[in-house]
Amino acid sequence: MKRNVLLGITGGIAAYKSAYLVRELRKKNFNVKVIMSPYAKEFVSPMTFETLSGNRVYIGWEEEPLAHIKLARWADIFLIAPCTVNTLSKLACGIADNLLLTTALAHDRPILIAPAANTVMYKNPAVQENIKRLKGMGHIIVEPERGVLACEEVGEGKLADTERLIDWIFYSLEDKPLRGKRVLITCGATREYIDPVRFISNDASGEMGFSLARIARWWGADVKVIAGFTTAKEPPEVELIKTLSVEEMHRAVMDNLGWAQLIIMNAAVSDFVPKETATRKIKKRESLTLELIKGKDILKDLGKRKGNRFLVGFALETDNLIENAKRKLLDKNLDMIVANPTGAIGRGGEYEGVVITKTAEERISARTKMEGARKILKLVCDNISL
Ligand SMILES: Cc1cc2nc3c(=O)[nH]c(=O)nc-3n(C[C@H](O)[C@H](O)[C@H](O)COP(=O)(O)O)c2cc1C
Repeated sequence: MKRNVLLGITGGIAAYKSAYLVRELRKKNFNVKVIMSPYAKEFVSPMTFETLSGNRVYIGWEEEPLAHIKLARWADIFLIAPCTVNTLSKLACGIADNLLLTTALAHDRPILIAPAANTVMYKNPAVQENIKRLKGMGHIIVEPERGVLACEEVGEGKLADTERLIDWIFYSLEDKPLRGKRVLITCGATREYIDPVRFISNDASGEMGFSLARIARWWGADVKVIAGFTTAKEPPEVELIKTLSVEEMHRAVMDNLGWAQLIIMNAAVSDFVPKETATRKIKKRESLTLELIKGKDILKDLGKRKGNRFLVGFALETDNLIENAKRKLLDKNLDMIVANPTGAIGRGGEYEGVVITKTAEERISARTKMEGARKILKLVCDNISL
């Protein structure tokens, strides 16, 4: 089902970025309608938004009777981006002296507010007080980013980037079956160095783990990700702890075990590590024999210490997929295991897997890893009682 995004645009220099935002929202299959503050049209022509959204743009009350009520009811989500400090402060005080502000008052759900302004303006105590008030009313402030601003000063005040804004839209639209739960996810590939420049690793991209993290956040969880080497896009608004070797990942996981309630171990961890790492680059020679020894077994150690936490593992197998995954489930004291054929490693493409618990087995087939992650997490939610 297509969802309706009402985009409010105010008179800040970042208004030009909203054109790209409308385009991306349409690509993500949202219906988009735009309301501009009267001053916003000094920055970008309404015709730009009309063309990109495929809908007329609203600015004044005179254009349609009761436009503010109709738009407020139409919107599944109301995002104001960029939001000037002027509009933000008026919102905090319940002022309704233009169509955008009146619609905001008539909208009975939390509004996503993405401020953008010069750092000093943004940090002004009056503005910060108004932000606090808006948060207290249940609205979501999508914090601006640090960077070079239009005024050429460096600081906090840049409009949140498009990907973050869209991520918050999904967050706002999703149910919250994991509300308040603390979820720890590992992902990516570990690297074991043979010498200072060469290493043993694998094809894992981190895409499944990052997708699980995105969705867990949308569903209300507090999420930490411990990542090895990754090539997939990192999810916004989650704490990311970067590691590389099995040893480092093991340490990071154990350090965060006390915090976590649900642990999803998606990282592709080396089973073997070099017995020794050369301190200098190994020179070319006729042949080279490497001695590998068993690395730390993070999953097994977690299984021993997990207590009443819900522990999910992943198994990638070339042979006897289900049989081997079931053995791993029992051996490592897991609550659930996701069995993947080797095609599941790396980025992109369709996703096939089997989710196995001690009592059930469910095949998953999805067009993307994001869709696969959603199905896996749904099964986790059906099975947890944290
Ligand atoms: C060139 C220019 C750039 C501006 N950029 C910003 C900005 O980035 N953020 C902001 O809060 N105000 C900015 N302002 C000030 C707002 O335009 C002004 O407060 C205006 O009253 C906002 O009206 P509105 O909130 O109804 O759109 C800028 C003004 C000018 C002239």
